Amino acid sequence: MKNKIKVGILFGGKSAEHEVSLLSAKNVYEALDRDKYEPVLIGIDKNGRWLQSSQWLLGDESRFLLDSDDPKRIRLNPSSDTVALIPQSGGEIEYLSKGKNEKSGNLSVDVVFPILHGPFGEDGTVQGLLKLADIPFVGAGVLASAVGMDKDVMKRLFRDAGLPVGKFRVLRLGDKVPDFEEIIKELGSPVFIKPANMGSSVGVSKVHSRDDFLEAIKDAFEYDTKVLLEEFIPGRELECSVLGSFYGNSNDGNDIRASAVGEIKPRHDFYSYDAKYIDEEGAALVIPADIPEEAAQRVRELSIRVFETLCCDGLGRVDFFMKEDGSIVVNEINTMPGFTRISMYPKLWEASGISYSALIDRLIELAIFRFEKEKGLKTGR
Ligand SMILES: Nc1ncnc2c1ncn2[C@@H]1O[C@H](COP(=O)(O)OP(=O)(O)O)[C@@H](O)[C@H]1O
Ligand SMILES: [Mg+2]
Repeated sequence: MKNKIKVGILFGGKSAEHEVSLLSAKNVYEALDRDKYEPVLIGIDKNGRWLQSSQWLLGDESRFLLDSDDPKRIRLNPSSDTVALIPQSGGEIEYLSKGKNEKSGNLSVDVVFPILHGPFGEDGTVQGLLKLADIPFVGAGVLASAVGMDKDVMKRLFRDAGLPVGKFRVLRLGDKVPDFEEIIKELGSPVFIKPANMGSSVGVSKVHSRDDFLEAIKDAFEYDTKVLLEEFIPGRELECSVLGSFYGNSNDGNDIRASAVGEIKPRHDFYSYDAKYIDEEGAALVIPADIPEEAAQRVRELSIRVFETLCCDGLGRVDFFMKEDGSIVVNEINTMPGFTRISMYPKLWEASGISYSALIDRLIELAIFRFEKEKGLKTGR
């Protein structure tokens, strides 16, 4: 029998979506076809420590994921072993267990699925580390991850590609804060204020008054050194999943494809952090979105262009607004979208005929496909 592919599931991390990531990892772990793959769970705690457990069965208190059936209490077992990834070791992950059962050794993996969201995971940092370590990994590379995380650079590239984006302006830390009146004249009211590099709606505000405006800017600068001021786009929120290789073509079947379109219906003023994660009924997911076929087609086309514009790879979820007149505006791309069984990304593929475990299969294939393409490149003259 063929050797099984060892899949490192890298999850958790220093982000507001730590728990979502734990749930995604648990779902991926359970869905991996054991005839083909051998999963290795590597969790990153909220302090950034990499942890691993040889007892990766779930549920039991002595195990790696505690309270894994409870989305609110799920957490990494803090007494797990510490591990470190040593760059240039071709997939070797060093094992440095401290504490009472002192031991060391190596774990090897053939491919890593980094299910990490937001800064320190979706932004190219972890992707860079994996690249240095010469390990194939699922999803966008360093460049697309970094650009996809930075709403300022992302939107400038969209604009350059002629994609429809709303008006925006950027403030750097240290810039003079413009008058609210000037901003209203330029962008209209209300205005959206958000950190350039964040996610989960953390630090995002919708403001109508000068006081709220100043407060929102201060708040957004708590999270980043760049802040976006954006025109408010009134409309419905649509999302579309993209799957494929930046280097693929229809002959090899790895070409970039877009899924059915879904709609997010937030029951709050906007799709805020609370609506996403706190309020269980904060938002409804409608799949497929109840929109005209032309609009869905336009969303799918734009999704592929967004993916290509940022040189994405593997997967991405593209988020849009649809205005009352039916026109579509691109909001953002998430290069590592939520990946629990009930998340929009896999749900949209399910609606398009690709099951959760088939999707994981594809993503692993695509990771290896890219790795093989890049392996042949010269690193100098
Ligand atoms: N310019 C805008 N106009 C209307 N709603 C917006 C705008 N920007 C953000 N929102 C609302 O805020 C939510 C979060 O903003 P988003 O830019 O998607 O940040 P994040 O990366 O944190 O998801 C969106 O899903 C939407 O509900
Ligand atoms: Mg968003």
